[in-house]
Amino acid sequence: MLEALDLAKRGSGDVEPNPRTGALMITDGEIVGRGWHQFYGGPHAEVMALQDAHAKGAKPDTAVITLEPCSSQIGEGGKKTPPCTNTLLAAGIRRVIVGAMDPDPRHRRRGLLALEQQGVEVVEGVLADRCLQQNQTFLKWLNLDRPWTIAKWAMTLDGKTAAPTGESRWITGIESRRRTHELRARCDAVVVGFRTAQIDDPELTVRHVFGRQPVRIVVDPRAEIDDDSNLVRTANKTPTWLLVADDVDAARAGHLQDLGVQVIHVKVAESPRHIHLREAWRELRRRGLRRIVVEGGGGLVADLLGWSCVDQVQCFLAPKLIGGRTAPTPVAGEGRAFMAEAWQVSEWTHCVSGDDLLLSGFLP
Ligand SMILES: NC(=O)c1ccc[n+]([C@@H]2O[C@H](COP(=O)([O-])OP(=O)(O)OC[C@H]3O[C@@H](n4cnc5c(N)ncnc54)[C@H](OP(=O)(O)O)[C@@H]3O)[C@@H](O)[C@H]2O)c1
Repeated sequence: MLEALDLAKRGSGDVEPNPRTGALMITDGEIVGRGWHQFYGGPHAEVMALQDAHAKGAKPDTAVITLEPCSSQIGEGGKKTPPCTNTLLAAGIRRVIVGAMDPDPRHRRRGLLALEQQGVEVVEGVLADRCLQQNQTFLKWLNLDRPWTIAKWAMTLDGKTAAPTGESRWITGIESRRRTHELRARCDAVVVGFRTAQIDDPELTVRHVFGRQPVRIVVDPRAEIDDDSNLVRTANKTPTWLLVADDVDAARAGHLQDLGVQVIHVKVAESPRHIHLREAWRELRRRGLRRIVVEGGGGLVADLLGWSCVDQVQCFLAPKLIGGRTAPTPVAGEGRAFMAEAWQVSEWTHCVSGDDLLLSGFLP
């Protein structure tokens, strides 16, 4: 089980909450196949381990899996994949050693029951706490009443997200921008703050990769977005939502609706007089958004952190220095008063992205 747990860790560099599972296939006490769940929507660990064993011509009889095998037809992301229990039975597995139960209460122990009913010997609860601990992020994702939120930004080596003039094109190289578009295509929405919409006039479309277009959302309490902006001009073609304060000027909101923008009213929090982002985020979930990427600016990200609405961060670090006391930074707002109060990022990973570095991690 310890080796299966080590395999499960390999899946942790991914950008989404991902059930982290590892699996071993065994014949006559010898490990003949290894697998782990590599990315959201990808084959599960036991399927990978079976493929590994079969590729070596082995016919395993025992499986060691950190998490209970799934027994339902619909996998993550709504994809139709055969249940892993069926795959294990078809492969002739007669003994299954499992770490933790499925954290999803709708499925818990159903997989094991399906195996037992077919006469498979099941040993459960081996290092269960450690196997579950490895899936804390996935557990959080299961229980969220708002979309999983990734805050993504690009910054220079001196921590600036734009020049002191506000101009920010481009900080990173083409590979990092391609990755950003890939991330957009894997999310249900891409969100920016009002000032970013105003200064950058972004399109927020998926361009450098092939993929589906997420909804575009602007947090714009007073509905100040320009009628001639790229977002409003193309709102009839690409879904564009505006999160506005509930006391916004009705004529202005109506005008934007006429231009094809979907205006969503959100109540205003007491202090600071900002829209209540937690309420707004719940509303986005009610409207079917499960995973969103927030692409700045620092004002919006700071507010979201304050509302505990950020789950993951992705920072592209470019080998440039821009300087300037007033140049924007990725997290603005009031900030925390002391280091001991800093938001702590965990499961910190990094990889090279062209000439840049991509740093990512999770918030508790
Ligand atoms: N490099 C990058 O990755 C990147 C990404 C995006 C943007 N940028 C740069 O960042 C700069 C813009 O950043 P920014 O921080 O000024 O702007 P922003 O975050 O896009 O927007 C800030 C505005 O939104 C308001 N706001 C934030 N949260 C709110 C809430 N809950 N309710 C109501 N209003 C809320 C702020 O109000 P208050 O004024 O009342 O606080 C402020 O007016 C631009 O120069 C842009 O180029 C860089």
